[in-house]
Amino acid sequence: TLPTLVAIDGPAGSGKSSVSRAVARRLGFAYLDTGAAYRALAWLALDRKTDQTQADAVTALLKDFDYSIGTDPDEYFVTVGQTDVTDAIRSPEVSAAVSAVARVPAVREALTELFRSLAANVDRPGVVVEGRDITTIVAPEAEVRILLTASEEARMARRSAEITTQSAQTVAEQLRSRDRADSQVVDFMSAADGVITVDSTHLDFEQTIDAVIDVYHTRT
Ligand code: C5P
Repeated sequence: TLPTLVAIDGPAGSGKSSVSRAVARRLGFAYLDTGAAYRALAWLALDRKTDQTQADAVTALLKDFDYSIGTDPDEYFVTVGQTDVTDAIRSPEVSAAVSAVARVPAVREALTELFRSLAANVDRPGVVVEGRDITTIVAPEAEVRILLTASEEARMARRSAEITTQSAQTVAEQLRSRDRADSQVVDFMSAADGVITVDSTHLDFEQTIDAVIDVYHTRT
């Protein structure tokens, strides 16, 4: 039997990654961070000094994109070739480059296929898959589909609390410009048909996890 799919989409700073990972842990499920794959490809583009605005050059990177990601929520890692890029893919440089890489149609097609096969082959009874287009494109058939949102103010505040190497203003500007670029490619600000919205603006971390778990129980 196929693993139960919990699809979670949302904008940057919604708490998506940490909440998704915690939910996976609670349910005994695997965890798949799809943004990490886009980030890993952006990292490779920077490492190879590829112009990430050149769709053909970015597409060409796919053929030696030897990427691997941990799907155990307790042993999360991302590697490209022999390089562990778990921390490097969170750098401001990668964050600034990732939207250009993610808008290339051939990239989205290749990574979507990869996500489907990773999700189908986890060694757990289910998998939490997290990103921007999981509820709509990658796994519209998922048993549980959630859009995790929060007010812009709350998202900016959370992200700047996480990133202490840059000013709150810089973080907010970068987040806004990434969301703007990303929303030209996929709509992750409004819930598609059948997708349940969880608004975390007034919830703390534990309450957000509980809210997601509640949705899971009403759907399964
Ligand atoms: O989730 P995270 O912020 O790490 O995602 C990094 C980037 O990857 C996003 O800004 C977006 O450009 C891209 N992405 C995407 N589709 C997904 C997940 C991430 O285009 N499903």
